[in-house]
Amino acid sequence: MLVLGIESSCDETGVAIYDDERGLLAHAIHTQIPIHAQYGGVVPELAGRDHIKRVVPLIRKVMQDAQLQLTDLNAVAYTAGPGLIGALLVGAMEARALAFALNIPAIPVHHMEGHLLAPMLESNPPSFPFVALLVSGGHTMLIKVAAPGSYEILGESVDDAAGEAFDKTAKLLGLPYPGGPKLEALANEPHADSSAYHFPRPMIDRPNLDFSFAGLKTAVLNAVHKSTDLEADKASIARCFEDAVADTLYHKCQKALDKTKMNTLVVAGGVSANSAIREALTTLMAQRKGQVFFARKEFCTDNGAMIALAGMLRFKAGERGSLEVNVFPRWPLSSLKPL
Ligand code: KG4
Ligand code: ZN
Repeated sequence: MLVLGIESSCDETGVAIYDDERGLLAHAIHTQIPIHAQYGGVVPELAGRDHIKRVVPLIRKVMQDAQLQLTDLNAVAYTAGPGLIGALLVGAMEARALAFALNIPAIPVHHMEGHLLAPMLESNPPSFPFVALLVSGGHTMLIKVAAPGSYEILGESVDDAAGEAFDKTAKLLGLPYPGGPKLEALANEPHADSSAYHFPRPMIDRPNLDFSFAGLKTAVLNAVHKSTDLEADKASIARCFEDAVADTLYHKCQKALDKTKMNTLVVAGGVSANSAIREALTTLMAQRKGQVFFARKEFCTDNGAMIALAGMLRFKAGERGSLEVNVFPRWPLSSLKPL
């Protein structure tokens, strides 16, 4: 069975084809970074307009790469939320129209469920149940995952998401959008000194599993203001900030695993592409003699493959979207139906 997946929730148009027997057959991404970089962040109206231009050529490309015809498809999955409404509507309209023309189902997919399941695209996929750490631009969550669709939120950020903290800190250091990967590159410069600053590890001593990154951002702001040579200091600031985030995630994951008595950790979302964070959580799971799973870096950030995979699971479980085009800019993950 073949599912086409379309992702258009923010600043990447992603399209992919997933086969339930052979796995991922083709995928393509178009990033809007050059469009938004000049404004320092995503401009929703420009995002929507660019998705309109890219989605059909990308569908043609993946069909050609996989040597398939549209009539071979069994369903079209699309990101129905959360995300920017104008951007979501492009993927939803395209998917709904294509499904209608082909007389096949259109399957609405939750963007964060896509992220969470992305490590299942790899050759050594995690098995259920597990604890998932979702770290993206808009969300930071620890989730007890009993099965696909069964998501119990154990804790989440009370203020900035981890990716947002990366992006805002990058801005403070004068780095262009998108901040996360640029900040990582700066932190990896040879002269970055990991002992130059000690930034707070917010809320790691609290018994609950919530996160807070606003205080860390303020600590970085103070360090920036105090610096007499920011050009020389900024790599160390970036490095110490990254260490503080990695350490915070390490401690919170440890608590979540203890609390749930589980020893399998799945880490997903854009921030899980960060090497320092991957290393910290790999160390945690080696110490616990447990297992940790990540998606390949390309599939940590937004992509069509994760939507095609999540859509396939929902399609096989009998889920069918209605004929209406519905998108949900805000959509709690915990409200999904277990499969
Ligand atoms: O999951 P994602 O692609 O989009 C959302 O669903 O939000 O996550 C994007 C976030 C951005 O905040 C970006 O700066 C961050 O992930 N990010 C990173 C890295 N790559 C992407 N943060 C730290 N290090 C990275 N290498
Ligand atoms: Zn995302």
